[in-house]
Amino acid sequence: MILTDSIDTLRTTIARWRAEGARIGFAPTMGNLHAGHLRLVEVAHEHVDRVVASIFVNPLQFGPNEDFTAYPRTLLEDLEALKSAHTDLTFTPSVETMYPRPLADLTRVTVPGLGKQLEGAHRPGHFDGVTTVVARLFNLVQPDLAVFGEKDYQQLCIIRRMVADLGWPIRIQSVPTVREPDGLAMSSRNGYLTAEERRHAPALARTLQEVAGHLRAGERDFAGLSLAAMQILNEDGFRTDYVSIRRPDLSPPSPDDREWIILAAAWLGPRTRLIDNLSISLV
Ligand code: PAF
Repeated sequence: MILTDSIDTLRTTIARWRAEGARIGFAPTMGNLHAGHLRLVEVAHEHVDRVVASIFVNPLQFGPNEDFTAYPRTLLEDLEALKSAHTDLTFTPSVETMYPRPLADLTRVTVPGLGKQLEGAHRPGHFDGVTTVVARLFNLVQPDLAVFGEKDYQQLCIIRRMVADLGWPIRIQSVPTVREPDGLAMSSRNGYLTAEERRHAPALARTLQEVAGHLRAGERDFAGLSLAAMQILNEDGFRTDYVSIRRPDLSPPSPDDREWIILAAAWLGPRTRLIDNLSISLV
C-alpha cells in the first residue's frame, strides 16, 4: 500500500494507474476505522481495479461545541487495517494541505434544502463541511466510483445530489450499514459510550424496528409514529433529536408510498450522539 500526505504523489500515482487502464475507486474516511469502513474498501474492490482511501478528520464538518478535538485518531491501526483490506493507496493530508487558506475564507460547496433538515437542522453547517471536503477530495482523486455507508443516509443523499448537480462522472456506490451482533450500527463514536451506555445503545435500532413493524402492519400516521418512537426512546434514557419517516429521497412520506426510510438521532449519555436508519419496502 502506498501511503502519502502529498497531493503531487497522489496525483502522479493515480495518473500512472489510469495510463495503465485502471479504474479508480475511492473510500473517504475520518479514520478510527471499524468493519463498516473496511466493507467500503471491499465493495469498492468489487467494482474497480485500484482503491484509494483517505483519512482526514475534517475540521469543517464539526460545530464549535462538537467533538473535533476528542475525535479518535488511531492512524497506525487504521493503516494496518487498510493494508489488510488491500487498499492500494491511502492519502492522509494535513489540514494545511486540504485547506490552504484560513477556513473562514475558503470556497464552500453547499447543497441547500437537503442539507438543512434532519442532521443539518441539529448540526448547522455540518453538511457544508462534508460537501466541501468531499468535493475537494473528489477533485484530487477523480475517482470513477466512490463508496459511502448507508448509516450516514442523509450524507449519502447529499453527496449524490452534489455529484448530479455538478455533473461529475463519479458513480456513488452505497454500502449497507454494518452492525454489531446486538444490532448497534458500527460507528467511530460508539467508543465514547460507557459500558452501561453500550449495553443500552441497541435500543435505538430496536425502536426503528418497532416503527417499521407498525408501517408493515398498515399504520400510516407518520407524525404520530415518530412522536411515539421519540417518547419511547426518551423514557428509555435517550435524549432524542428526531425520529422521522421519509421517502427514500428524504422528501415527506405519503400513505400511498411503498418504500420509506426511518431515520433517528439520539444522545445517550453526555458524550455520545447516535444516528441510525432503517429502510422498509413493501414492494
Ligand atoms: O462519513 C465520513 O466519515 C465523513 O463525513 C467523510 C465522508 C469522510 C467526509 O469527511
